[in-house]
Amino acid sequence: MEIDIKLGENTEVLFSKTEIQNKVAELGRKISKDYKDKNLYIISLLKGSFIFTADLVREIDIDTKINFVTTSSYSNNTETTGKVKLLTEIKEDLTEYDILIADDIVDSGLTMDFMVNYLKSKNPKSIKSCVLLDKPSRRKVDITADYVGFSIEDKFVVGYGLNFGDYYRNIPYIFSLKN
Ligand code: IMP
Ligand code: MG
Repeated sequence: MEIDIKLGENTEVLFSKTEIQNKVAELGRKISKDYKDKNLYIISLLKGSFIFTADLVREIDIDTKINFVTTSSYSNNTETTGKVKLLTEIKEDLTEYDILIADDIVDSGLTMDFMVNYLKSKNPKSIKSCVLLDKPSRRKVDITADYVGFSIEDKFVVGYGLNFGDYYRNIPYIFSLKN
C-alpha cells in the first residue's frame, strides 16, 4: 500500500511531545529499578529507534552499555516483507550481560522474534525487550515485549524516529493518517 502523508492534511496526532516525554521517563525509571543489580546492555534497533533510545537512556540512572544494530524488513511501503535482515553483526562476547532490546514498535513481531533468537545464540544472562509502541492486533508471531510505552490500534504511524520512506523521523510527536 502506497500512502502519501502530508502533515496537517488528514493527519491525526496520537501522542504529543509531552506525552512521549512522560512515558519515556516512566520506562526509564522502571528499567533503572529492575536492572539495579544487573549488568544492563541496551541493544537498539536502527533506524526506527534512534530517537526513542537517545531519550530513554537519558532517563536511566544506572550503568549501561549501549549498542546499535541495523535491522530491516520494510521497503518503501507500510507492510513487512516478512524477511528480517540484520545488516550489522554483533561480535562482542555477551555472556556477562543482561540484554535489553530497544525498538520503536512491535508490529508483526517478526523483527523482535528474530532479534531475541539471534541474541539467544550468544548466551547472555538474560534478554528482554522494550518498545515505545505496540500494535498487538498485527502479530504474526507470538511475542510480547517486556516494557511497552503505548499500545495502539492497527494504524500506520510516523514521527519520533518512525518513518515512511525515511521521512518524518524528525517530527517530535507521533501521528497517523485519519481513516
Ligand atoms: P515488525 O517486524 O512487523 O514487528 O515490525 C517492526 C519494524 O517495522 C519496526 O521496528 C518499525 O521500524 C517498522 N514499523 C512497524 N509498524 C510501523 C508503523 O506503523 N510505522 C513506522 N514503522 C513501522
Ligand atoms: Mg525498526
